[in-house]
Amino acid sequence: MRRRRIAILISGRGSNSATLMAAARSTEFPGEVVLVMSNRPEAEGLARAREAGIATGVVDHTSYNDRESFDEALHAMLEAHAVDVVCLAGFMRVLTDAFVERWAGRMINIHPSLLPLFRGTKTHQRALDAGVLVHGCTVHFVVPELDAGPIIAQAAIPVVPGDTAEALSARVLAQEHLLYPRALQMVCDGSATLVGERVVFAGSWAPTGSMRSPD
Ligand code: GAR
Repeated sequence: MRRRRIAILISGRGSNSATLMAAARSTEFPGEVVLVMSNRPEAEGLARAREAGIATGVVDHTSYNDRESFDEALHAMLEAHAVDVVCLAGFMRVLTDAFVERWAGRMINIHPSLLPLFRGTKTHQRALDAGVLVHGCTVHFVVPELDAGPIIAQAAIPVVPGDTAEALSARVLAQEHLLYPRALQMVCDGSATLVGERVVFAGSWAPTGSMRSPD
């Protein structure tokens, strides 16, 4: 099977982007990262991509008058790099429905909570405020509704007495770095596909500890 051409969209630090680039460096991985793109020119993750010898791009949202023209520019850059799969990795812009629909089944996101709990921002503090005993992260296909797409993989961690948002965030991030490459692999090799509003699992997918279990 042809290796999928992957673009990673970031807005900041880019630690998830770095783990995806590292995983996809292996020729065994069913995809290769061909572009790391940011809406913020100063995003740290761009430098990491350059160091790894990966093409980078900036579509600065402050240069566009509306979301439609920003998303058009984003789409054009993805097309120019013949991208098959888009990974949102700390990309903090809301995308238009039209853009999301163009990439339906080919765009995934990582979110720092066990969705459908705690969509949006400040997930770790909200988890603490809600008193949940289990927290974690989710990789899902992107649909127009924010953080609401069909779930590909999740990892859970316990919330412990005395936890702070910072401590939880660090422990969840460590799980994100394990989960996202595995989920991307499943999308690239076709073992997780979006069919209607559900994810269908097949092929080489093998459940692991904190991964979603089969029915
Ligand atoms: C990650 O924790 C990611 O889950 C989160 O932003 C962080 C980016 O870190 N994404 C969202 O909150 C999206 N709603 P990174 O830049 O180091 O990968």
